[in-house]
Amino acid sequence: PLVTSTEMFKKAYEGKYAIGAFNVNNMEIIQGITEAAKEVNAPLILQVSAGARKYANHTYLMKLIEAAIEETGLPICVHLDHGDTFELCKSCIDGGFTSVMIDGSHHPFEENIKLTKQVVDYAHSKGVVVEGELGRLAGIEDDVNVSDADAAFTDPDQVEEFVQRTGVDSLAIAIGTSHGAFKFKGEAKLRFDILEEIERRLPGFPIVLHGASSVMPEYVEMINKFGGQMPGAKGVPEDMLRKAASMAVCKINIDSDLRLALTGTIRKYFAENPSHFDPRQYLGPARTAIKEIVKHKIVNVLGCDGKA
Ligand code: G3H
Ligand code: 13P
Ligand code: ZN
Ligand code: NA
Repeated sequence: PLVTSTEMFKKAYEGKYAIGAFNVNNMEIIQGITEAAKEVNAPLILQVSAGARKYANHTYLMKLIEAAIEETGLPICVHLDHGDTFELCKSCIDGGFTSVMIDGSHHPFEENIKLTKQVVDYAHSKGVVVEGELGRLAGIEDDVNVSDADAAFTDPDQVEEFVQRTGVDSLAIAIGTSHGAFKFKGEAKLRFDILEEIERRLPGFPIVLHGASSVMPEYVEMINKFGGQMPGAKGVPEDMLRKAASMAVCKINIDSDLRLALTGTIRKYFAENPSHFDPRQYLGPARTAIKEIVKHKIVNVLGCDGKA
């Protein structure tokens, strides 16, 4: 069934694991993710960015996800990733999403609260849940390119007031992750001390980790070997994700890993089969690669297998 994330987060918090939130843009991505989740009986969050909605169209994505729910029988939450306006959130709520993120993190504190509360009031009146954000991730959030200098860790002194005054159902934080495939110049480092302090201030409250792709070396190598150029690509080590999942983090966002798998697989296929031109021949293996990665993440990193 189509569900909110409320029950998922409650069980994840208590069970010390996390739910995977995977970004979707087309049929093959949706099929790869949902077939993986079905095989290991995992609850799922499928998230749609403003860019994804622009690319694929709200109705197409919603109908594809409905098809996946029918095929798998899994509890699936459909979530707007990085909503930036009330209007966008409202449109997704009215269009059947069960969860929205309002990302007011680039606004001053009071404006973030005001915007987030406006979304929460509308969402809750329709039975939809809301993710807010405090702190700014470096990297690319849709059209907003946040420079390293503009990035800022979440201030634990602000979290209680933000959650209380907005009524959000979950909170995205910034502890050193970033979006995209180039997350660290040197050694990977996350501020687990900040996460611990947030956990202490908000006991039992579900935290969300964005920018959580591990940028799997095998796929970066595959891309570089078959004509791509992504030198220095680097993600969050999976051990750190396991640690976050064992703490208050209940939702872990993964997009780049799926993009890399899809692109690497297709590059390899083209290099090895230069005469082929049937899209099913290269989209099929790409879909399988996504499925294998999602299964790996669910079973070996997030720990939400068997929890559907
Ligand atoms: O937050 C970033 C997600 O990976 C979505 O990316 O805005 O390019 O669809 P996108
Ligand atoms: P990655 O770029 O690390 O996959 O992060 C995705 C994300 O946070 C989507 O909101
Ligand atoms: Zn994000
Ligand atoms: Na957790």
